[in-house]
Formats: sequence, C-alpha cells, structure tokens
Amino acid sequence: MQKYSNKRQVFERDLAVQSLGAALQNILLFASENSLGACWFSAPVFCKNTVRRVLGISKENEPHAIILMGYPDGHSIVKKRKILSEFCFRDVWGNPL
Ligand SMILES: Cc1cc2nc3c(=O)[nH]c(=O)nc-3n(C[C@H](O)[C@H](O)[C@H](O)COP(=O)(O)O)c2cc1C
Repeated sequence: MQKYSNKRQVFERDLAVQSLGAALQNILLFASENSLGACWFSAPVFCKNTVRRVLGISKENEPHAIILMGYPDGHSIVKKRKILSEFCFRDVWGNPL
C-alpha cells in the first residue's frame, strides 16, 4: 500500500481493505463458476506475524485473508440465503427495492 499523510492513510487503508474484499469476492465467484469449493478465512488478521512466518510473507506485506479452495467431495450443503430485499434498499435505508 502506498504511504500518505497520517490522516489520509487511515482512509486509504479502509479503501484498500474494501478493495481486497471485492477481489476476494471475485475469486470466490471464479471458484463457483468453475465448480470449485472455496472458503474465505479472515483469521490471519488475528495472527499476522504467525501467517507471515508460516507462508514466508515479508513484513512490508500485511496478511488479511486466506481462501481455501478445492474440489467438493460431492456432499456440499446448499444453505438457504437471506432475501436481498431484507438488507438492500433503494435511495434511503428502509425503502424497499
Ligand atoms: C469476511 C469473512 C471472513 C471469514 N473468516 C472466517 C474465518 O477466519 N474462519 C472461519 O472459520 N470462517 C470464516 N468465514 C466464514 C466462511 O468463509 C464461510 O462464509 C462460512 O463457512 C459460511 O459459508 P457460506 O458463506 O457458504 O454460508 C468468513 C466469512 C467472511 C464473509
């Protein structure tokens, strides 16, 4: 991540984390499209140095997430999802789509 003034750095970091979330989601979409099973782990944020050591990541790089990926064994359970309109709104919060 690029370095900015202290105040801006806080916001830029938020942007970087949001971008990372989008990238991770895209990887999950790719996995799904290609019949791969995948699972997002953000646990590395709790033990960054351990993850750095185990995976050989330099201290300039900050581990945030790991995606486990593989071929499903055929026993995957498709979970029921929330209905989008329960948490997505039009124009203002609470206004139905
Ligand atoms: C941002 C994010 C971080 C997650 N981090 C972990 C984690 O560190 N460890 C874990 O066991 N599950 C974690 N999960 C949950 C799994 O990735 C997965 O979402 C969960 O097993 C439920 O599966 P589903 O999303 O297909 O319903 C995380 C999920 C999200 C969205």
